[in-house]
Amino acid sequence: MEHSGKRGPTEFYNEDALLEQRAGLVLEERRRAGLGGLVGGLAAIVIGVEREQIEAAAAELLRTTGYVFDTAFEDSGVQWCVLKRRGSADIILQARKTGANPFLKFSDFPKVRALPNTRLETFVFETPDLAAYLEIQRGRGLGFDGEIARHDNFLMVQTAPLELTGISYGFIEWTGERGQYSGRDTQPLPWRVEKPSKPWLDNVGLLDHAATRVRARDRDPAILEFMRYTNYTFDFSIYVPPLNSITNVARMAGADFALVFTSGIRPFENVETAGPTEKFINNYGPRVHHIAFCTERIESTFERLKSDGVGFLSDLVGGPEEGLHQAFTTTSANTLLVTEYIHRYAGFDGFFTRSNVAQLTEATAKQ
Ligand SMILES: [Fe+2]
Repeated sequence: MEHSGKRGPTEFYNEDALLEQRAGLVLEERRRAGLGGLVGGLAAIVIGVEREQIEAAAAELLRTTGYVFDTAFEDSGVQWCVLKRRGSADIILQARKTGANPFLKFSDFPKVRALPNTRLETFVFETPDLAAYLEIQRGRGLGFDGEIARHDNFLMVQTAPLELTGISYGFIEWTGERGQYSGRDTQPLPWRVEKPSKPWLDNVGLLDHAATRVRARDRDPAILEFMRYTNYTFDFSIYVPPLNSITNVARMAGADFALVFTSGIRPFENVETAGPTEKFINNYGPRVHHIAFCTERIESTFERLKSDGVGFLSDLVGGPEEGLHQAFTTTSANTLLVTEYIHRYAGFDGFFTRSNVAQLTEATAKQ
C-alpha cells in the first residue's frame, strides 16, 4: 500500500494499515528500550484557566461531576486548585500569575483568543522511577522541558507543549504522601469551594477518557508520539466518511482511562466543505475537546443536570440495545472543555455506537 505521506497535497487521506504497522514498531522499540513497567496510568490532568476564573472553574466542575474540592494553594508564580474523586485521576486547575505561558502560542484561533490561557494542558502519568524513565527516554531522543522538579511529596517532569496537539505529557513519581501536591514550597489560598448538595452528582464517576482533536495529517504522528512517551497503544478507530472524521482510541492494558484522538480523514480545505472535526480545529486549534465521566443511572442524572441548568449539545443518545448512553454539554466558558457523560451496558467496551457517532459528531458541529 502506498505511503499516505507521499500522496500529493490534495490527495492525502488517513488509513489504518500504515498506522498499525508503525504502532507495532513503536511497541517493539518500547520493549527493547526497557520501558515496560516504567509508565503507569493517569494520575492527573492539568487544566490551565484564566487567573480570574480559577474559582469559577472549580465551582463548575463541582456542580457537574462527582469530584470534590481538595486543596487550593500557590507559589510565587502559579495558583492551583486540586479536585479529587476516589479511584479517578485528579483534576488540577492551574492559573499563572507571572511568567510566560508556553501554551500561549496554541491560542491564536478565533474561538480561543479571548481565553488564551485556557486549555487542558497536561496529562500526568505515574511512574515508579522517574530518573530511570527519563534516562531511557532521553537516550532515545525524546524531549522534556527541563530537569526533574523536586517537591515535598513528588518528583515531576513534563514535555514542552507538543506541536501536533498543543498538549504536554507529564510524569510523576510519588516520594511522600500520595496525591498531596502542596508542600513547604507552597502557601494555601484563602478560599475553598463547597460541594453543592446535589445527590445525582454521586452518579458521575471516574474519568473515562479525554478526546484530543488533531489535524488529519497529524493523526498518525500524534498517536505514535503519545505511544513513545507512555505505555498506551493504538487500539482501534472508527471512520465516519460523510463527516470527514475518525475517532481513534489509545488504551493501556489494565487502565481505566483511554486517550482518544479525533481527526479528519482528509485535511481541511475550506469552511464550507469541512467536517465538524476539521472545522473545530479551524476555530479552536488542535486541543482537547472533551473529558468524559462514567455515569450511573444516566437517564435520571442527565435530566437532573439539565434541570439544574447544565447546557447540552444534544439529547441523551444511545441506549442499552446500542451498548451505551452518552450526552455532551456545551463548551465551558471557564475551561473551554465539553463534558461527556457516558454509560456502557454489559459487555460493551466502545466509546460510541456506530449509529450514534455521526449524530454526536454533528451535534458538536454546533460549537
Ligand atoms: Fe468521548
